[in-house]
Order: sequence, then C-alpha cells, then structure tokens
Amino acid sequence: MAKKTPVEWTRKHLLGLEDLSAGEITHLLDAAEKFLPYATGRTERPARKAAPQRLKGRTVLNLFCEDSTRTRTSFTLAAERLGARVVQFHAATSSLKKNETLLDTARNIEAMGLDAIVIRHPERGAPQTVAEAVNCSVLNAGDDAHEHPTQALLDFLAIRHKFGRLDGLTVAIVGDIRHSRVARSNLYGITKLGSRVIFVGPPLFLAGLGDIAAAVETSTDLDAILPECDAVMMLRVQFERHEGVALDLEDYKRGYQLTAKRLARAKPGAIVLHPGPINRGLEITNEVADGPQSVILHQVTCGVAVRMAALSLCIGALDRQRKSAKPSPLTPPLSRSTQRLSTGREGRGRKKRGLSREGRGRGKSSAGA
Ligand code: MLT
Repeated sequence: MAKKTPVEWTRKHLLGLEDLSAGEITHLLDAAEKFLPYATGRTERPARKAAPQRLKGRTVLNLFCEDSTRTRTSFTLAAERLGARVVQFHAATSSLKKNETLLDTARNIEAMGLDAIVIRHPERGAPQTVAEAVNCSVLNAGDDAHEHPTQALLDFLAIRHKFGRLDGLTVAIVGDIRHSRVARSNLYGITKLGSRVIFVGPPLFLAGLGDIAAAVETSTDLDAILPECDAVMMLRVQFERHEGVALDLEDYKRGYQLTAKRLARAKPGAIVLHPGPINRGLEITNEVADGPQSVILHQVTCGVAVRMAALSLCIGALDRQRKSAKPSPLTPPLSRSTQRLSTGREGRGRKKRGLSREGRGRGKSSAGA
C-alpha cells in the first residue's frame, strides 16, 4: 500500500473549510484527537497533569459580535488549557457602539499584542477581511450563514469516534439549512473526506443556497431519506434570521421533527448530532436529544479539542511565518475594500441594501494562508 505523505500545516488563519484539502482536515482532526484527553479539563491518569502549555505567554482575543454560549466558552477553555491568556470582547459594551469600525477595533486591540483573534460576526466574509488587516492569526467562529469551520470539525471528530472513519457514510443535515453556516462547513468538509451529504428540509429552507445549490443533494422527505443515514444532524430553526420567512411550526414538526419513532427508520447504530443551541420540542424531541443515539454532548467535548488543535496549529504557522519574514510594519496597510468593513450592525444594513462588497465573493477563498 502506498504510504501517505504527511500534510504540513502552513495556514496561520482558519477561515473556512471550503479551501482546505482533505489532508489538512484530517491533520486538524488528528491533532484534535491528541488534545482530547485534556478537553474536559479532568485528568484521568494521575500522571497526566495539564495539557501541554503550547500557548504559554500568548494572547487570544475573542471578538464576538453575535451571541454565543458554546463557541465562546469552548475557544476560551481551549486557549486557556494551552496556557494562553484570553481577552473577551463584548460588542454590546464596546466602542463599536460609538461607531468605531470593526477593523479599527481589531487593529487597536492587536496593537496591545495579540497572537490570535477568534471572530464571530453577522456579516459574511468579515473574518477574511479582518485577517487581511492584521498580522496575527484569525479564526472564524461563525460568519453569517457562511462558514463555522470549527463546528464542522468537531462534528467530524464525533462522527469518526463512532464509525472509526469519515468515508463511505451518509449524513443527513436536517432543518433550517438556508440560515446555517454549520450546514455549509459540513458540506465542504465531509464531501472532501468521501462521505455523502443530503440537505433535508421544507422547500422554504432549501431555497437560497446560492453557490452550493448545484453541488448538493437535497430532499424534502425526511422519512424517505432516514433509512440511508448513518448520521442525522438536526439544525436549530434560526428564528432570529427569519425576517420575511413564514414557517408553520406544527407543519414543520409533522415533517421534520426528529422523534424516536422517526429515528427508528435510520440505519441501526445511526447517531444524532445537533450543533446547539437546541429548540427542544421543535426540531428534536427531548427523548431523542437525550437518548442513547445522541452524541450532542460528546460534540461539545470534541469542540474544545478541535479548538486547541486549531489555535495551536495556526499560531504555530504564524510563528514560523514571523521568523522567516522580513521586519514588517506593525499593522499592514488597509486595502480599499477592508477599509469599508464596519460594525456588525452597519454590516447587516449594508447587506440588506446590497452594498456588502466584502461579503460577496469571499466564499471562494475562505481559508487563509
Ligand atoms: C452557530 O453559531 O451557527 C450555531 O452553532 C448553530 C446555531 O446557532 O444554530
């Protein structure tokens, strides 16, 4: 059998899975596997004290311009367990409220000494734009309905734990696909790894898929698809993004709620995933969410390991680039397009007015060097 050439990690940013190769994704997952014993923070063997302090003395900024429980906490714990100091930025109490632009905010905090910015933002492409304007690593913690790379990676890790592989599987992603960055990152990643993805939902949620519409298999019939499924990933109905969407909730539950009876149609041993937060009793019943086929809490644990891997690989690549680079200005000059990126609120306004130049076309180069 031909020996696989190991993939070297050279990216200082993690902005999306669209541009990552299968080898790079596997490299990240293998690295995460090594961090998994530290992901709960509990030491299982007396000899194992703490995670390797790979980020000792480093500073990570959590720049969140949208609400978050899991992702913010998980990035914080991941960075802290590796020895980094984490600064929490809260958009609602920041100078973004005084009309400071996002790029000014990022560059000003970077000027205090940063190794990485973890960013969540309501505008598609914002992480890429920030990455172009700063010198440190940038990790995307979710941009609009575009990408959420670390969520998809933790999903892959949880699936790999169950099946021992990530090829030859059928994964149904069910529900509010239209508004889901999780669905997109999963699609980009898992198809590269050799598995089949089916987006399942009512026509309303399968509309507006844009650039990925042609590449993805879709179905409106969950009951018909379930017998083919090794994994069923339920998505949250994202009411906060539903401007102009008229959803009949009782109808939705009848067609798409994952109940125990419905799940029994899936392949024996099929697993149930959900990125959280869960609308209990809407997209999934309590019985299924807390049942034996659910790996939802295991996903959360995998998330810490994935983020430890992502931070440590990206900052490692940043260090190598810093060492080999000629002395450069502390902050790179802004391009005309990056100068435009403003606050999350203004970003949303621009998008509605069709002026969001940074967002459009960013998907093609979503993973930075
Ligand atoms: C996200 O931030 O996209 C979450 O992980 C999923 C959700 O909000 O439904």
